[in-house]
Amino acid sequence: MKMMLLGSPGVGKGTQAALICEHFGIPQISTGNILRAAIESESDLGLSVRSILDAGQLVPDEIVNALVKERLSQADCEAGFLLDGFPRTIMQAQYLVDNAVSLDYVIVLEIDNGEVVKRLSGRRVHLASGRTYHVDYNPPQKEGVDDLTGEALVQRDDDTEEVVLNRLNVYRTQTSPLIDFYQVLARKKQVKLITFSGVGAVEEINKKILSAIS
Ligand code: AP5
Repeated sequence: MKMMLLGSPGVGKGTQAALICEHFGIPQISTGNILRAAIESESDLGLSVRSILDAGQLVPDEIVNALVKERLSQADCEAGFLLDGFPRTIMQAQYLVDNAVSLDYVIVLEIDNGEVVKRLSGRRVHLASGRTYHVDYNPPQKEGVDDLTGEALVQRDDDTEEVVLNRLNVYRTQTSPLIDFYQVLARKKQVKLITFSGVGAVEEINKKILSAIS
């Protein structure tokens, strides 16, 4: 099972990815999580991309392509994987095609921009695992701490309203053209493209996705 989740910031890609990966026993490959881990560890990569993430811009294609290539070469990806936040440009999608990485499903999630701002301003994350909560919609059992580790939750630096609006603009101009890209592949029966509303209870959305792909 090889899949990718496509949708605007805050649509629920990370939330649904965790549930889908648990269901199928496959790894979630989130380029956002990989980049944030590099920033957290202050590696050379992290230092070079920090200002890009903070501004809500995209990291150059060559950097993310290399990260994904390395991650997909690991043994746990042999039985399948879920790409979360990659590809994000036509160049990245073409990179997968050129490297013979085929996808069974492209799952598109849709949401209004107004809801995105509400979701991201209330989001809290556990940086080490990428687990995501929301102060109102999906609160942790104990305020401010991760359910599994008891470690502190934080607000992402790119979840301020100004940066969220910039990320939405980047999505519209650079990432949403991927829907047309995958529609062309779907017409050639090279992938299945399925679209869901990202609005509604997390479990209900997940049920619809699982029943469409199981
Ligand atoms: P990334 O981390 O991938 O951010 P994103 O795509 O902007 O997506 P988000 O993580 O903000 O949202 P999500 O859709 O995962 O929503 P979530 O499930 O958390 O990337 C960050 C940055 O890294 C980029 O801006 C870029 O700089 C760089 N980057 C990453 N990949 C790159 C690439 N391929 N190329 C270049 N640069 C790259 O949910 C959001 C909130 O809503 C949470 O609080 C959640 O609890 C809540 N929620 C979820 N579902 C529901 C629901 N159904 N109802 C109510 N609330 C819900």
